[in-house]
Amino acid sequence: MSLIKWTPEEFGTSVSQHDEEHKHLFGLLNGLHASVGAGERGSIGRALDGLIAYVAEHFAAEEANMRKVNYPALEQHLFEHEKLVKTCVNLQQQFHAGATEITEETTAFLRDWLKQHIPNVDRKYGPALSAI
Ligand SMILES: [Fe+2]
Ligand SMILES: [Fe+2]
Repeated sequence: MSLIKWTPEEFGTSVSQHDEEHKHLFGLLNGLHASVGAGERGSIGRALDGLIAYVAEHFAAEEANMRKVNYPALEQHLFEHEKLVKTCVNLQQQFHAGATEITEETTAFLRDWLKQHIPNVDRKYGPALSAI
């Protein structure tokens, strides 16, 4: 079973580019979750690296669009992105050093972060970015 499912009601931002990116992100997180379930460290590591690389790419795309329109709430948004990136990079380093494992708690943390951030923070850029 999937950990997270994209629906327009829960996650739609009215910016189709970012909605598509969120769907892709959910697919990568569901993939990581499946790898954790299978318990194979190599595939967990590949899924983790792929997810974190895409998170960075997606954040950069949102930030570039927000800058384009001089989005007023950019700073607060950047702060949330930076905090998650730091957490993810730490996790990635520790995992590859063999100092920690990726568990269902980790994937639940990432799911909860997305369930908080997209509806409450991303959705707010909808009106400003819909013209892009
Ligand atoms: Fe986003
Ligand atoms: Fe965001």
